[in-house]
Amino acid sequence: MKVFVTRVIPEEGRKLMIDAGIEVQEWKEKRALSKEELIAHTRDCDALLSVSTRLDKDFLHASRHLKVIALHSVGYDNVDVEAATAVKIPIGNTPGVLSGATADTAFLLMLATSRKAFHMHKSIIKGEWGFFDPTANLGIELRGKTLGVFGLGKIGLEMAKCCIGAFGMQVIYHNRNRNETAEKELNASWVSFDELLEQSDVLTVHTALTPETEGKFDRSAFNKMKPHSIFINTARGAIHNEPDLLSALLKKKIWGAGLDVTNPEPMHPDHPLLNMPNVSVLPHIGSATEETRAAMSVLAARNIIAGLKGERIPFVVNPDVYK
Ligand code: DGY
Repeated sequence: MKVFVTRVIPEEGRKLMIDAGIEVQEWKEKRALSKEELIAHTRDCDALLSVSTRLDKDFLHASRHLKVIALHSVGYDNVDVEAATAVKIPIGNTPGVLSGATADTAFLLMLATSRKAFHMHKSIIKGEWGFFDPTANLGIELRGKTLGVFGLGKIGLEMAKCCIGAFGMQVIYHNRNRNETAEKELNASWVSFDELLEQSDVLTVHTALTPETEGKFDRSAFNKMKPHSIFINTARGAIHNEPDLLSALLKKKIWGAGLDVTNPEPMHPDHPLLNMPNVSVLPHIGSATEETRAAMSVLAARNIIAGLKGERIPFVVNPDVYK
């Protein structure tokens, strides 16, 4: 049995597959594969372990011989899941293990943005650390403020816990369905989307990218937010409209933004958001810790091993494939 892996993954996951008797063929070049290369490389493989690779209908139809596809991510917005189900390929993801690390990244962006930390660091490098001015370089405080979570699932819950623990923040959230566990654990209140916009001092996005959430944070949404609010997105860049975000910051409709995800990725180095004092941008590193990436590789490997044994994969995103 042979698996094609679209990037080099942590040793922990690779070893698990090798120990299970699977031949592991990794794409070692530091560039993304084209669709044609992906089809060619998976042609003689039984499974695919996909890292940040778009798997569209064409690919899935051309690769219907695959017994399983394991994603090295919790998000599966870059896969045509419906097409995979139609050709009977189970798709697996890596839920749970990256919640802490991703929430840490959101927390880091919130704090860094509130104190303009990335901008201050750049200004020291540019030799701009001048005389001490008590009215310059002022940030805003987070203590006792209201955290609004858009998508209170596992990652949002971890972010909320950090914000309550560190700053005693009040938590409000907007989900399609109420999260009663979080309401009990965090004393969080469900609010409508408009109330979330109007009441949050920090609004943090932790939802999946779907047709309903795509472009959700646009001009009209930013216009409803508080002028002193901070917008944080560690989920997917397409959930916010980037030109509208830039304009909201320039017009002081909101105070700041922290992004681990942009639209497109990578963000162009000349992008005006990168030169704004109240904006912090990271290159999609939400889950990038040694511990979390190792754990993700293990879950992906478990999906591959089960799929190749003909068993139900443990973290399936398209359970209909088994009907
Ligand atoms: C995820 O797991 O979805 C991360 O964003 C990496 O893509």
